[in-house]
Amino acid sequence: MPTYILGIESSCDDTSASVLCDGKVLSNLVANQEIHKTYGGVVPELASRAHQQNIIPVVNQAISLANIDKNQLNAIAYTRGPGLLGSLLVGSSFSKSLSMGLRVPLIEVNHMQAHLLAHFIKDCNKKKPKFPFLGITISGGHTQIVLVKDYFEMQVIGETLDDAIGETFDKCGKMMGLSYPAGPIIDKNSKLGNSLKFVFTKPKVEGLNFSFSGLKTGFLRFIEKESKMKDDFISNEVNNLCASLQKTIVDILFEKITYAVKETGIKNIVFGGGVSCNTGIINKFNENKNDFKAFFPKFEYTTDNAAMIAMVGYLKYKKNDFSSIRKGANARYKI
Ligand code: KG4
Ligand code: ZN
Repeated sequence: MPTYILGIESSCDDTSASVLCDGKVLSNLVANQEIHKTYGGVVPELASRAHQQNIIPVVNQAISLANIDKNQLNAIAYTRGPGLLGSLLVGSSFSKSLSMGLRVPLIEVNHMQAHLLAHFIKDCNKKKPKFPFLGITISGGHTQIVLVKDYFEMQVIGETLDDAIGETFDKCGKMMGLSYPAGPIIDKNSKLGNSLKFVFTKPKVEGLNFSFSGLKTGFLRFIEKESKMKDDFISNEVNNLCASLQKTIVDILFEKITYAVKETGIKNIVFGGGVSCNTGIINKFNENKNDFKAFFPKFEYTTDNAAMIAMVGYLKYKKNDFSSIRKGANARYKI
């Protein structure tokens, strides 16, 4: 008998639903919330309201695209956290009600684990990573190095002490007048700029932790100072600024991962999260193929999506690892 899992993701500003059959994606829909562009970042209250509007149509469409009846579902997997509490509450309440209504088990999923386990979705015809590996979760809210010994044996061995890597892209982009999310725009502009034109100071952080707030402040001070002297500094230099900023961020990440490989002796590097489609990062690791075996997710599984939630749901379903409806959304849910 095939196993059908419905995944529901609502941790930030994307409402997503996906149906997997034995780990293969039958449907994976994401409703983005354009409203946040006006504000240059995610507004939590608006995000939860938009989830409330989107969740029923998105789930209905995911089930009908999968060409199954809702009564064929074996379990409902949902993002318990981490994320924005209001957003998580919409997905968790909906998932609990649906699991009770359909009388099928409920499965809680850690969003960060899901970003890494997305590599095991069966339609990725890419090679699957082997355990143990170093999971690198890089997104708008996280920057972590995770020691992964098995599917659910994970330990965070390094993380950011302040801003996340995606947040750094987005905030520096906002300073240059780029729209939200600025990460993909900076990546695109970088290809047209000289990455050696400007030099930004890199933070000095001991061990495997990261810090990006100093770079962000340094970047702001620099463009403020230059703009005082030349009115159109940003518009004239935007591509060079993007390329130099991206190079600095990629170098910080690369240096830490190199150190983590040295410390752990593990060369398998598995990326997950929205920033893992950054071409600067991908190129840097491709240039150093002898030192690492790097795995990047398929593009549609880099940013937030419910297929990765359903995939974890499937792995947990096979272990009978179910959740209680008494458990609530957890904004700071740890790996
Ligand atoms: O994983 P995700 O969809 O949501 C969170 O859980 O945060 O990641 C979104 C983040 C945003 O900060 C966005 O700017 C960044 O991923 N991002 C990128 C690129 N594409 C998305 N950052 C750099 N380069 C990209 N190509
Ligand atoms: Zn995410």
